[in-house]
Amino acid sequence: MNKKVMEDLQVSGKKVLVRVDFNVPIKGGIITDDNRILAAQETIKYLIKNNAKVILFSHLGKVKSEKDKTKLTMKPVAHRLSEVINQDVIFIDQTRGEKLEKAINDLNDGQVLMFENTRFEDIDNKKESSNDPELAKYWASLGDGIFINDAFGTAHRTHASNVGIASNSQISVPGYLLEKEIKFIGGIIDQPTRPLVAILGGAKISDKIGVIENLLNVADYVVIGGGMGYTFLKSQGHYVGDSLCEDDKIELAKELIEKGKGKLILPVDIVVNDQFGNDGDIKVVDIDQIPVDYMGLDMGPKTVAKFTEYINKANTVIWNGPMGVFEMSSFINGTAGVCKAIAAHKEATTIIGGGDSAAAAIQLGFASDFTHISTGGGASLEYLEGKELPGITCLTNK
Ligand code: 3PG
Repeated sequence: MNKKVMEDLQVSGKKVLVRVDFNVPIKGGIITDDNRILAAQETIKYLIKNNAKVILFSHLGKVKSEKDKTKLTMKPVAHRLSEVINQDVIFIDQTRGEKLEKAINDLNDGQVLMFENTRFEDIDNKKESSNDPELAKYWASLGDGIFINDAFGTAHRTHASNVGIASNSQISVPGYLLEKEIKFIGGIIDQPTRPLVAILGGAKISDKIGVIENLLNVADYVVIGGGMGYTFLKSQGHYVGDSLCEDDKIELAKELIEKGKGKLILPVDIVVNDQFGNDGDIKVVDIDQIPVDYMGLDMGPKTVAKFTEYINKANTVIWNGPMGVFEMSSFINGTAGVCKAIAAHKEATTIIGGGDSAAAAIQLGFASDFTHISTGGGASLEYLEGKELPGITCLTNK
């Protein structure tokens, strides 16, 4: 990585601005998945230990009107963080103003403050999301010229709270979480330890065209499962019944298979049902045996075994996207089988590219068996597409 790092900073006694991505799911005031908070704690603890005055901020959801503010406050997040770091987190319910400035200036070394959702500023002309220069300058002025970006999940955005602050700071560096994401997700694109096997799933090809195209260049094998598999199968002349299929992407699927020259691996059997749900006539069939009016909802055991062979050939595995409708118990085996096979392959570097597959690994109890689980959704996909991420580019080079 050609960026300066936290160890290059003198943070003691300094007001340090830290952008985190604490855009976490909250239902009825309760955080239902706190992984992004847990993943950022190493950076925060380092700064506390080194006597910085830590000023944290994040976006949460999309704020379109005053009404959204009540449900999108960072208050429950600040509370959860204080439990995680076992220290008070001073929460200021403002994104600017005297109260915030005074609270920051009153901070003691080693204290932590979090201010309100950066996207509250979007109500006024999308100031945060359009990287408004005045807002960026104001936020940067709250610190002592040091900016730490640990928000990988937001690194594909050019917002005032990341790129804007960086361009108004003396030095901007990645936090430990962002460093890890650059090492593992960036490492796949830049210099993977081969063989590199990419396992891609999820509902639609259209969401992942760029990722498939780039990984066909970079990876040794690209294994396709999940809902997007049916468009590929149809492009090879298979009848897919009522399975999810993007008819306008059949030609593209054919082209990708041709471009892959044997690199692109498809399912051989699937679990079908005559309705979308846990009830119905559920059975396993080979891909050329899908009955009329049935739909594929999961990968079958022969497919899991075939995918496992490719996983076991790998020195690096990147997995993005579930293999079936894993939220329904009857269709969890494909995703669970692949997850288990990757988790068991201890000799390889194993990475989950965020989103639904990260949720599946956590739900299935395999999270700690992976080398790295990305905290990015859209950011991981854009990184895997080979795009430059502005939240990383804006940081200070070595
Ligand atoms: C995410 O959850 O993917 C990130 O926090 C970015 O959120 P956004 O798509 O609302 O910018």
